[in-house]
Amino acid sequence: MLKTHHCGELRPQHAGQQTTLAGWVNRRRDQGGLIFIDLRDRWGITQVVINQEIAPAAHKIASTARNEFVLQVTGVVHPRPEGTANPDLETGEIEVHASDIGILNEAKTPPFYINVDEKVDETIRMRYRYLDLRRPRMQDNIVLRHKVVKFMRDYLDARGFVEIETPILFKTTPEGARDFLVPSRLMPGNFYALPQSPQQLKQLLMVAGIERYFQIARCFRDEDLRGDRQPEFTQLDLEMSFVQREDIMALIEGLMIDISEKVAGKTPLFKPFPRLKYNDAMELYGSDKPDLRYDLQAVDVSEIAGKSGFPIFVSNVAEGKPVKVIRAPGMAKGLSGEKLKKLLAEMETIARGAGAKGLAWMALPEAENGEVKGPIGNKFTIEQKLELFEKVGAQPSDILLFTSDKREIVWAVTDMMRQFVAQQLGLIDPNVVAFCWVTDFPMFYWNEEEKRWDPSQHMFTLPMPEDIPLLDTEPGKARGSQYDLACNGYEVAGGSIRIHERTVQEKIFPLIGMTMEHAREQFGHMLEAFEYGTPPHGGIASGIDRLVMVLAGEPNIREVIAFPKTATGSDLMAHCPSPAEPKQLEELQIALALKEPEKK
Ligand code: AMO
Repeated sequence: MLKTHHCGELRPQHAGQQTTLAGWVNRRRDQGGLIFIDLRDRWGITQVVINQEIAPAAHKIASTARNEFVLQVTGVVHPRPEGTANPDLETGEIEVHASDIGILNEAKTPPFYINVDEKVDETIRMRYRYLDLRRPRMQDNIVLRHKVVKFMRDYLDARGFVEIETPILFKTTPEGARDFLVPSRLMPGNFYALPQSPQQLKQLLMVAGIERYFQIARCFRDEDLRGDRQPEFTQLDLEMSFVQREDIMALIEGLMIDISEKVAGKTPLFKPFPRLKYNDAMELYGSDKPDLRYDLQAVDVSEIAGKSGFPIFVSNVAEGKPVKVIRAPGMAKGLSGEKLKKLLAEMETIARGAGAKGLAWMALPEAENGEVKGPIGNKFTIEQKLELFEKVGAQPSDILLFTSDKREIVWAVTDMMRQFVAQQLGLIDPNVVAFCWVTDFPMFYWNEEEKRWDPSQHMFTLPMPEDIPLLDTEPGKARGSQYDLACNGYEVAGGSIRIHERTVQEKIFPLIGMTMEHAREQFGHMLEAFEYGTPPHGGIASGIDRLVMVLAGEPNIREVIAFPKTATGSDLMAHCPSPAEPKQLEELQIALALKEPEKK
């Protein structure tokens, strides 16, 4: 090794020892006869002192070093002089007095500061990702990710799981997104599809008698990107035979608690994880992945509001549309009329963004005898107001936010308002992780455009056993055996018990608009396998990128992926996707027929 210690290692007990360090110049301070260099590597920073009188050659080299030069430094460890220790550094009580310095590589001035944690334009960070990854915050994220994955492997290995790689070049494995296709040169005109998940293969491994499978699996989905979505991402994918959903939920719950506490140093707010039925999650929180770090439930006040003097509420309730209130505790405290209006205008804009036509509100006075402010305050009688306040548990200075519309819009507004209020009121503890299970999803959603049912998870999910007859009569009412795990407002895992009988699987295809012929073409191997002794089985997959993002407290998954894609699916460092060479296309027997606007 070109180093004997790393830059986060030396302590006062090393005083007097000779050491060789190697790393990057984090900062250099030239005080004439003395040069101080903070040398940085993955483990930390060590102060190196170069004295012109004691080590003139090293001093000369040090005077030419600039930020991000790669140096090798040999010297002796000394305690720092009285009063100069740096409590912010783990090595802050020592310094290395250099005898020799070698420049291993010079560096151009980086396009952004590596040694300061400041906001940098993301396109520049992506363009120079290797420099971005040199920053301590990114290194911490990448190391955390490694530790999370290692913990998963050890946890599952100890419980009899076998890690098995499944192919990347495969056939369509739909999870609701578009496939990425790869053309075959050897069979021109034919394509592989990159797996959206190893779903089919892990089920086939159950037919194969593996019983407990897992994989740190790359998945590929051509869908619109968001802060928590990438076109390629990684799952902890697992499948088990002879299980019920409780077994899988217990396994994952134990894993998530251990990872949070032992690896990420976060406190799970709830143990065991609460369970919400899909419908309750939507009604209370407006989301099937609610953030339970804060309470803020939506309360249905349709009965009271339907009798009020506010015509919109009255007519909505008559049409069966609910009126719901979210109580923002103490949010009006200390706000002048002007500021209150401004805040509510901001919230109304958010509500409109979620599809609402407006946002009605009431602000309760600070003192008991004060008056209720807001546009609908006078549309409720005193008795109605008292009943309303009782129902939502109102306190002085609360703001009550009302939404009334179609259920789906009320849900969307509830979700947005909860997030906004929690941020605004500082209700989120950054050290806490709030996991919850969501179950009892509808099996299908109606796709009005295509006039067919879409599976709410995927086509291999078993309906709740008592709902199987509904597939023939009212498929919209059937619930799936799906279970999702949410954490801090993100879906971090999802799974189900699977269909393991061909007859049930064959009922699903026509419902989702697939002819049996097409189904056999795409999934004939699955249907065939199901006829050779398939054990009852189920599984789950957790999005590792999302999980690590939540554990690292990062706002998007790009922060925990070494080389992520931008929102347009591009890699700005390597400049891809990029055109293929004409020869490559020729070999594949592919001719391009680009549409006009996309022509470059
Ligand atoms: P699902 O589609 O719910 O289930 O995916 C499982 C988990 O993967 C993560 N995830 C993503 N992360 C980043 N970018 C994406 N584009 C993305 N899409 C999904 C989420 C999600 O909860 N085969 C099933 C699992 C099973 O049934 O066992 C599946 O893939 O955290």
